[in-house]
Amino acid sequence: MTREHRIAVLAGDGVGAEVVQQALRVLHAAADAYGFGVALSEYPHGTEHWLASGEILPDAVFDEIRGHQAVLLGAIGDPRAPVGKIERGIIGRLRWDLDLYVNLRPIKLLDARFCPLRDKQVQDVDMLFVRENTEGPYVQPAEFEAEGTPYEVASQAMRYTRRGTERIIRYAFEQALGRPRRQLTLIDKANAIRAQDLYTRVFAEIAQEFPTVETNHFYVDVAAMRMVESPESFDVAVTTNLFGDILTDLGAALQGGLGLAASANLHPGVMGLFEPVHGSFPQAAGRNVANPMAAIGAVAMMLDFLGEDAAARAVEAALATVLREHVRSLEIGVHATDELGGLVLRELAAVAAS
Ligand code: IPM
Ligand code: MN
Repeated sequence: MTREHRIAVLAGDGVGAEVVQQALRVLHAAADAYGFGVALSEYPHGTEHWLASGEILPDAVFDEIRGHQAVLLGAIGDPRAPVGKIERGIIGRLRWDLDLYVNLRPIKLLDARFCPLRDKQVQDVDMLFVRENTEGPYVQPAEFEAEGTPYEVASQAMRYTRRGTERIIRYAFEQALGRPRRQLTLIDKANAIRAQDLYTRVFAEIAQEFPTVETNHFYVDVAAMRMVESPESFDVAVTTNLFGDILTDLGAALQGGLGLAASANLHPGVMGLFEPVHGSFPQAAGRNVANPMAAIGAVAMMLDFLGEDAAARAVEAALATVLREHVRSLEIGVHATDELGGLVLRELAAVAAS
């Protein structure tokens, strides 16, 4: 019997359905070409489902999803729901309650035409962001005291645990060890947010275990500037949930925009959720204009996690060829969603046959 991977699919809101449709075409083609099976369970959860049924992600569904080896997610977010309600209820819940503590976000320029920086070559933008995914203010409740009055106070705590800090930093060191440059940068803001001194101290401690990894430390403001001025100074970077969120959108811009940026949410060795970095882009929904390459890149990361290395490399190669040889522009409306999906399928078939 061939191996079979059980995958939960949540297309979600906005352009999620369209990009996931293309990603699944590529997944099925990769399975056929590389001799493995995929058993998909598709879930309708998202804003539309919440509006129709009142449920966000019931416990029974969460438990069922937990029984899969991986999750593929399109996008969540819709202006018809209160801000953040469905995002926190679905993406947040899956990340936190499945304890997917690594948010892995590669930033790799594949074609210099798409870099917004002057005179940068592909080798100048090749970094791997390791964003902590289960701590910091994002996971804390917001509190509003005396709401609506002139005395209102709003707060949401920044809270970091030693265990949470150690495991993300150790994971980042392991990633750095596996790359040719063996360089790891810590990004925090410990000079102003003294709680982040925990990151600074834990980083220095764990660095002792990895003497062959070269280390750097930038405060987040300096890191943002350097990513633009000299992206070549970054290899692997590890940072908090909040800073990782912000800097990886900046990073997505360096590689050609959110249409290309893919990410993995991992509990290494246990479970992974794979998604494009972009959101639901409601204005584009249903128009066949969203770029599916980020979602297809998420499939490549998922294949890698599932141990389908050859298939993962083939999908990556197909994406790179499509970008270099077929994409004229990444502006919305130049290439259709299904056209790009079809081009990736064609290139994947060529790679698989070679
Ligand atoms: C991301 C998104 C999410 C985040 C939102 C939708 C909660 O921006 O995956 O980067 O902030 O983590
Ligand atoms: Mn984000």
